[in-house]
Amino acid sequence: MKIRLAVLVSGRGSNLQAIHRAIGNKVFDGEIVLVLADNPGAAALGFCADNGIPSKYIHPGDFKTKLEGAAEQAYIAALRAAAPDLIVLAGFMRVVKPPLIRAFENRIINIHPSLLPKYPGLHTHARALEAGDRETGCTVHFVNEVIDGGKRIMQARVPIRPGDTEASLSARVLKVEHQVLPAVIKMFADGKIDYKTFPAEPMIFSAK
Ligand code: GAR
Repeated sequence: MKIRLAVLVSGRGSNLQAIHRAIGNKVFDGEIVLVLADNPGAAALGFCADNGIPSKYIHPGDFKTKLEGAAEQAYIAALRAAAPDLIVLAGFMRVVKPPLIRAFENRIINIHPSLLPKYPGLHTHARALEAGDRETGCTVHFVNEVIDGGKRIMQARVPIRPGDTEASLSARVLKVEHQVLPAVIKMFADGKIDYKTFPAEPMIFSAK
């Protein structure tokens, strides 16, 4: 099926670009039907404008880290109008709450830059470096009411090398994020992922 995607972003939008590229390369049959940003200056909005992708900044309300109340309802309404099959949080730096989660039950996924359950939340790379970890990675997971705690779908592992900095590590992880996210969306498009029957352990991504 041609999967209808809505993508929520806050900034740079490199994962959004990876999704757009995968569609262009026919990795899966899909369409980005809406991009919503909580930040009017998000570079992702410029990318959408340049590439004919419907996009909108919606004021996220008074909270800095979550989406609640009237603002949340505005996001829900815009998403409902776009009728997506799947909502992708791709660098959306805000906690989504039960009303939005329930409106699109088991149809929201997020990409997170760590091997969950390690390092939910922010500053994942700094925390991995500080802990002296030898590897890190990224996780695509279903979004539920626990922050970065929904069922994990796919992970990719990335080595941590001596001398790595937050910047070098984040660049290495981002490179695999751009592969893992389209790979997961392809599985949704192919009807291969069903929340209810999905195993407790995530798939491990391996590059072809
Ligand atoms: C990505 O590394 C993504 O995993 C992370 O933000 C970055 C967004 O980059 N997301 C989170 O930390 C979510 N809590 P992008 O805007 O270039 O896709």
